[in-house]
Amino acid sequence: MTKTLAIRRPDDWHLHLRDGAMMRAVLPQTAAHFARAIIMPNLVPPVVTGAQAAAYRDRIMAALPEGMDFTPLMTLYLTEDTEAADVAAAHASGLVKAVKLYPAGATTNSASGVANFDNVRPVLEKMAEIGLPLCVHGEVTDADIDIFDREAVFIDRVLDPIRRATPGLRVVMEHITTSDAVDYASAQDDTLGATITTHHLVINRNHILAGGIKPHYYCLPVAKRETHRLALRRAATSGNARFFLGTDSAPHTDANKLLPCGCAGCFTAPNTMSILAQVFEQDGALDQLEAFTSLNGPAFYGLPVNEATMTLTKTAPTYPTHIDTDDGPVTVFDPAMPLDWSVT
Ligand code: NCD
Ligand code: ZN
Repeated sequence: MTKTLAIRRPDDWHLHLRDGAMMRAVLPQTAAHFARAIIMPNLVPPVVTGAQAAAYRDRIMAALPEGMDFTPLMTLYLTEDTEAADVAAAHASGLVKAVKLYPAGATTNSASGVANFDNVRPVLEKMAEIGLPLCVHGEVTDADIDIFDREAVFIDRVLDPIRRATPGLRVVMEHITTSDAVDYASAQDDTLGATITTHHLVINRNHILAGGIKPHYYCLPVAKRETHRLALRRAATSGNARFFLGTDSAPHTDANKLLPCGCAGCFTAPNTMSILAQVFEQDGALDQLEAFTSLNGPAFYGLPVNEATMTLTKTAPTYPTHIDTDDGPVTVFDPAMPLDWSVT
């Protein structure tokens, strides 16, 4: 008999849906499997105000194909000009579920992010007061810090000082990539959560750089050495409520990935659940998959778990190698291993 696994329908706690033609192409890929997703605000221009988030949510709902059940959880992009009152109003109306902190220059479309953290102090204090989580892209941007060290240095120099200065602030360390981040998150109280992507559970930096450069494996934060990947696997499969899925599925057209200065991002929405089932089975932890994809995230955000169920079947999945968009093809993440779990 074919092995099956039923879990509550998953959510994605870190997703790039983009806008326009790209959004129309990638939104159904996420909505097919995920009930809700935290929608990243790094559009051009970024989603900074409550009014912009409301308009973006309306565009997402208008692009959602008839009959699909999906709720976008909106975020605001934190700038040094963000008004605490606007953030509080967007939260009070139920529109916004988190605020996103990009250190200026850290990643795709982060130019309007924060350079001087003192300038966002009033907003962070308001967020601590009202219980609105801060999602943090945790990398320093200093040119003299090696790119493979930028996450660990950020924890010491920025994250921990912000948390100490703002007691009660709920923080999500996003797309963690190091054992340093796993250790830090594991040692904190439940005001801290950490998301882990699909791809960081299956690739290390050799996948990007050994035997030729592989732009489709390039994302930020960049994948680290194998010891870090193994620490992420242990954290994700542990059942520890600190850790939950944020795919960071970040589509770019192949034309934009394959440039001399190509974009960062892996597009994992179509095969994430197949990859995760494989990973959790390999690690003898299929019984923890539901905690990682469907329980720990809602618990952190104070939202109900999904009532609907997803069934996974142990049969080889079929998914495209790329999807077509009106802007050109987008390559689907290659997990570099055969997969034998399908979403039914
Ligand atoms: C993201 C993107 O393309 O918007 N890229 C990525 O490599 N993850 C931005 C981000 O989350 O850092
Ligand atoms: Zn991202």
